[in-house]
Amino acid sequence: MKVLITAGPTREPIDPVRFLTNRSSGRMGYALAEAFARREEQVLLISGPTQLDIPDHVDFIPVETAQEMYDAVAHYLPQMDAAIFCAAVADYTPVSVASQKIKKSADTLTLELKKTPDILGSARQVMGFRGYLVGFAAETENLEENARIKLERKGCDMIIANDVSQAGIGFDSAENEVLLVESAENTALPRDTKEHLAHHLADIISDRWLLKVKARELL
Ligand code: CTP
Repeated sequence: MKVLITAGPTREPIDPVRFLTNRSSGRMGYALAEAFARREEQVLLISGPTQLDIPDHVDFIPVETAQEMYDAVAHYLPQMDAAIFCAAVADYTPVSVASQKIKKSADTLTLELKKTPDILGSARQVMGFRGYLVGFAAETENLEENARIKLERKGCDMIIANDVSQAGIGFDSAENEVLLVESAENTALPRDTKEHLAHHLADIISDRWLLKVKARELL
């Protein structure tokens, strides 16, 4: 199986020395890349900047901005069997990037932002991906309901949802506790390290992909 994984934060430049970003460590995506590589699957990891080592036996494409991540995903996705979108992609980016360092002058400074492309949301409709598609959803309320809306809206086979209002899990934490939302069922996985959880998720996603292939063969 060929698996594409996006991971980490993106960096949206403001001027030559500043950027907008978020607290994503990339750990969940890198742990998933490692788990699939250990199963001897072919893994392509497309990642924003992190402090992590690239797992062994994983092809790696470093990116910075949401647009660069979009372009890399659009290029490689058609060859993939499964894609897992773990990256914490910036939803907005500055409308223009100053070519010189912005000097301190007025007491307030307003940045104008525009939406970045929704990479996961483009996988089916724009990029024509037909493989097994997994998105993540970081929610602070109505976990299942919001995840189910994302599942439908972005054409995913599975949403891995986590409640980021709970301390110690999710963003920038060593552990995670997730609810897998699929069209027919929900599966709650207990709190675990991201590395253990990644192995569990790699098993489940591989099984689901095989089921999808078999269902297609029967058509
Ligand atoms: N994602 C993406 N490209 C974006 C934004 C998000 O590929 N520009 C992916 C993330 O990697 C994740 C999923 O979409 O797998 C969920 O992102 P999220 O930001 O929670 O979803 P949104 O549709 O932006 O909804 P919300 O209003 O909850 O932020």
